[in-house]
Amino acid sequence: MSQRSVDWKSCIAVSSVIATAYTAYKLYQVRKNQNPRAVSGVEGLIGNTPLVRIGSLSNATNSEIYAKLELANPAGSAKDRVALNIILTAEKQGLLKRGEPGWVFEGTSGSTGISIAMICNALGYRSHISLPDDTSLEKLALLESLGAVVNPVKPASIVDPDQYVNAAKKACLEMIETNGVKAIFADQFENEANRKVHYETTGPEIYQQMNGHIDGFIAGCGTGGTITGVAKYLKTVCGLSNCHVILGDPQGSGFYHRINHGVMYDSVEKEGTRRRHQVDTIVEGVGLNRITRNFAHGEQCIDEAMRVTDDQAVKMAKYLSVNDGLFVGSSTAINAVVAVQLARRLQNDNETKHAPRIVIIACDSGSRHLSKP
Ligand SMILES: Cc1ncc(COP(=O)(O)O)c(C=O)c1O
Repeated sequence: MSQRSVDWKSCIAVSSVIATAYTAYKLYQVRKNQNPRAVSGVEGLIGNTPLVRIGSLSNATNSEIYAKLELANPAGSAKDRVALNIILTAEKQGLLKRGEPGWVFEGTSGSTGISIAMICNALGYRSHISLPDDTSLEKLALLESLGAVVNPVKPASIVDPDQYVNAAKKACLEMIETNGVKAIFADQFENEANRKVHYETTGPEIYQQMNGHIDGFIAGCGTGGTITGVAKYLKTVCGLSNCHVILGDPQGSGFYHRINHGVMYDSVEKEGTRRRHQVDTIVEGVGLNRITRNFAHGEQCIDEAMRVTDDQAVKMAKYLSVNDGLFVGSSTAINAVVAVQLARRLQNDNETKHAPRIVIIACDSGSRHLSKP
């Protein structure tokens, strides 16, 4: 056999090995993306949420409008990320220890309590949630079925020591003093583990899913963790300084004037018009009349606030449900209304040479709000 034919044969052999390895690698990548690997415990399912193009709004505005489906987290909202990071941070600080009894206290009428209750169960802790005594029956039932200790208190202003956030802090201190067990007050408004998890995970996920092309980002603001965390990542780490970051604000909230005019005030606060809820809206989870640490940290990354009425939000929620099969909560509907306005403005001003690419946060599902109109 000649030297020449041996070389030829080994060439073929080496090439076929490379081709087989390459095909196997490609197949592995496809499978890896299609079939996420099994995780250990529900906490492993948090994050890496899908991004979906909203066909109806994109087509109507000649733009590309996407929703980051935070409602796909295991306890149904973006608050899963926050609750997990608050608990993991407390563990790192030695305030909680896996395998030992421990409690997480929070004052919340929203999704954070449900996320805390779920994650506590998964990690072997107990949860104690203080909330206003007129919180919806769905949420109470969910918290109770998750085994949380529920502490309903009379609705009150944040300056009242019995207000639900203050009640949670007090109950936590009592537990530490009387029982000597490890316990933390989650404190989502002031705890920086909140915005940090959005900076470290939600922001990078959005950037990657959009291949780095984002002209607008829209989120509501409750604690401020989501909007400041994501906006700061996009603007400071990714260099997207031209990306329009817009805060979708419900009627009655102070953020609209704070961002646009530098003053935290809404006319519903004027003398003689005080109502049951300071932020007088049916939209849950967003809108506030005070500045929290999480908001203050990234306020400079928010370019503008747009106000959306309850009526517009309800109509948008119905529209998305009927036209796209997207059954979202009212805070998401607010973001969608803002997305349409931003898309039209970018088109009219010819600001982008391509169809504007906009991302909104879809914080939770409409099923959380069924008892509301
Ligand atoms: C339904 C809903 N949407 C939006 C938000 C706002 O998110 P953040 O607290 O990060 O500002 C919240 C917060 O509780 C919420 O419950």
